[in-house]
Amino acid sequence: MLSRLVAVNTLTKNKIKIITKECIYLEKEIIMCGIIGYVTKEKTKTVIPILLDGLKKLEYRGYDSAGVAFLNENKVDIIKESGPIVNLEKSLNKEIESNIGIGHTRWATHGKATKENSHPHRCGKMTIVHNGIIENYLQLKDFLQKENYSFISDTDTEVAAALIDYLYEESGNVLDALNDFIKKAKGAYAIAIICDDFHDRLFVIKKASPLIIGVNENENFIASDVPAILDKTNKYIILEDKDYAEIYADKINVYRDKKKIKYKINDFKGDKLLIDKQGYEHFMLKEIHEQPDIIKNLIDRYLKKEFILPDITKYQKIIVVGCGSAYHAGLIGKYLIEKNLNIEVSCEIASEFRYKKLFLDKDSLVIAISQSGETADTLAAVKISKACKAHTLGIVNVKESSIAREVDDVIYTEAGTEIAVATTKAYSAQVLMFILLSLEKNVSKIKKLKSLPLLMQKLINQVDDYKRIASYIQEKEHLFFIGRLIDYAVAMEGSLKLKEISYIHSEAYASGELKHGTISLIEKGTPVVALVSDKSIAEKTLSNIKEVKARDANVVLIVSEESNLISDCYDYKIVLPSILEEAYPLLMIIPLQLISYEVAKLRKCSIDKPKNLAKSVTVE
Ligand code: F6R
Repeated sequence: MLSRLVAVNTLTKNKIKIITKECIYLEKEIIMCGIIGYVTKEKTKTVIPILLDGLKKLEYRGYDSAGVAFLNENKVDIIKESGPIVNLEKSLNKEIESNIGIGHTRWATHGKATKENSHPHRCGKMTIVHNGIIENYLQLKDFLQKENYSFISDTDTEVAAALIDYLYEESGNVLDALNDFIKKAKGAYAIAIICDDFHDRLFVIKKASPLIIGVNENENFIASDVPAILDKTNKYIILEDKDYAEIYADKINVYRDKKKIKYKINDFKGDKLLIDKQGYEHFMLKEIHEQPDIIKNLIDRYLKKEFILPDITKYQKIIVVGCGSAYHAGLIGKYLIEKNLNIEVSCEIASEFRYKKLFLDKDSLVIAISQSGETADTLAAVKISKACKAHTLGIVNVKESSIAREVDDVIYTEAGTEIAVATTKAYSAQVLMFILLSLEKNVSKIKKLKSLPLLMQKLINQVDDYKRIASYIQEKEHLFFIGRLIDYAVAMEGSLKLKEISYIHSEAYASGELKHGTISLIEKGTPVVALVSDKSIAEKTLSNIKEVKARDANVVLIVSEESNLISDCYDYKIVLPSILEEAYPLLMIIPLQLISYEVAKLRKCSIDKPKNLAKSVTVE
């Protein structure tokens, strides 16, 4: 392998290690889980509500377990619980006076989601919370065991606590210990520490895992991202890799390699986190209902030239990258750009893209799509693309997020804070951006989109239809979504929505592909959701619908008025009103989102926080 190395690249903040002819290797970006920390001058204040509040805002990063550590009459108390943050909340006395504390919410990667494995962990004089993975923790554990350290969990975090404690005992200086830790621990970590010997400050270390310091008068914060602390302050410091810091209530010192460094205090200009269901039963339902307004605002603002979109026609090659729903939005973008702008587009799953052979150069445009702007694979794809000299454009929802900061140009989807883990409104805003990009300033066509919000609302209102279909689907074990071309891309998103929130298995298939194998799974009563918006291929899809009907499938047909599909080959039917053809994906997705929602509700699933998921997937 080494013989094939052709260059060493130090372009992007030490992350890009080696460029080979085949691909670029990145240090892992591991930033799942959430960290919060707080220190105040007020001795009589309790930090617990502040830690809890921050953790709730970070819960999108994982909700397998949560814990806090805080100073309680000169000793550090640790309280932690498995399960969501409400479990932790029940175990906490919010009245305890304390001026300093740290907290953590976990998405289990190594070790089960048990109370023992949850953070904070304590060893010697160090109590820590940690995001990331210490890759050489087994060697370090072995060494530390020989130095008489013992461990009660299986985590790398407990080893990190022991190593910091050991290095502190050796040097007698916490800051030196932190610098030594960075030299000895391999991998990615953001760590917050309370040391028994210093009750007036927190310590932090950061490498390849984000950590910011929130700055305020006589109180300071640490957090995995800025929105977690926005209620308290919009001033923040971004720590760079290998930085370590001591954070007092009224003073912050940041160090790199034993030298105190100057830092910049930034002003956050994005949205505050709004965590309020506003009367809806679930955030997901609220967010589905917000879609017409979001789409209306974006169209209006675009027509008023309040934001402009870049000219993408000047590139020889366009590659769209994203994960999950963002990838599905990208697939819609591919169809639209190819059809309207005559440019070939490839759409890639970011986790694959980052490790495959790439053919990028300065004439390539890489469009990275991400709601959170923190998805590790998509972020890595952007960094690799930049290293290959491609131009990068982000379509991002969360302002000033990692991807938004990393790309050359960014378009914000302005969908507002999305709380439900399953994306709805951010996905629709991504799709709208692709519609606008592909219509390339064709004002007469764009004006035709003005009726879209109203039609979306009309579909949202057809709730009884969705409830009826949901009560039929809710007891099924498998179902299929079929469609051709752009409808196939929408089918993928519909299928994902149903799987992730209702836990019913489903597959999206290109209608014409079903007969090449999978049709063997169709039997009496198998639900098939067939999507037909494009009149030019409606008849073709109809043939495929007939094929499954002939095998006694039950068909839920979602069809555009326009496609004129005259057929009785369905058991349930939703008709989409006429609109500019590019906009059908935004109508089609409404029944799919709401059917999934109603199915999940009937099955009593945890709709806003489905099992095993997290809102922001920041591990690769
Ligand atoms: C599904 C869903 C995920 C995300 C994916 C990418 O409902 O939300 O599939 O779309 O994890 O996340 P972002 O867009 O934050 O990069």
